Amino acid sequence: MKKKRVAILISGRGSNMRALIEAAKAPDYPAQIVLVFSNVETAAGLQFARQAGIETVAASHKKFATREAFDEFVDAQLALFDVELVCLAGYMRILSNAFARKWQDSMINIHPSLLPAFPGTKVHEQVLAAGAATSGCTVHFVVPELDSGPIIAQATVPVLSGDTPETLAARVLAEEHKLYPAALKLVAEGKVKLENGRAVFSQ
Ligand code: GRF
Repeated sequence: MKKKRVAILISGRGSNMRALIEAAKAPDYPAQIVLVFSNVETAAGLQFARQAGIETVAASHKKFATREAFDEFVDAQLALFDVELVCLAGYMRILSNAFARKWQDSMINIHPSLLPAFPGTKVHEQVLAAGAATSGCTVHFVVPELDSGPIIAQATVPVLSGDTPETLAARVLAEEHKLYPAALKLVAEGKVKLENGRAVFSQ
């Protein structure tokens, strides 16, 4: 089995990145993490990645004149490392259309709600304000529109009375750390593909 070469793009603490790195240590896991990229030079996740012996590149988007120019730089880094699949993991950048289009068959994201419900930010606040009884997380293919690509996998958690955004986030995050490695495995094995704008599963 030839392992797929994966880059993880982060902006912060990188706990999902960590879950992917841990999962990819298994000899039979179909993906290897070859690069962690961050648009935030001080992102805590970078430290963990370096200690795990993974190549990192950090470059602030603020040093680039346009979103397009920054994404071209990111794309060039992905090319340098022969990246085949991209995992967004708490990557707090809106992608340029060109970048999103170029990678759309091969780029996935994790979002801490049951999409299409509650896209965007302040997700757990939105869930609690709506009085939802259930929440969860979603891994989806990335398309140019934010948080709206074809869904690959979801996990649910109950919303409990007395939940705060923090307690709900922690319950969802525990599921994220299981779901993301499982979803990346499906994509890396070619068991789910983006076809005509839909996630199509094979046996
Ligand atoms: C996660 O909740 C993820 O779903 C969202 O951003 C958060 C990132 O957390 N996209 P971490 O950096 O992976 O710990």
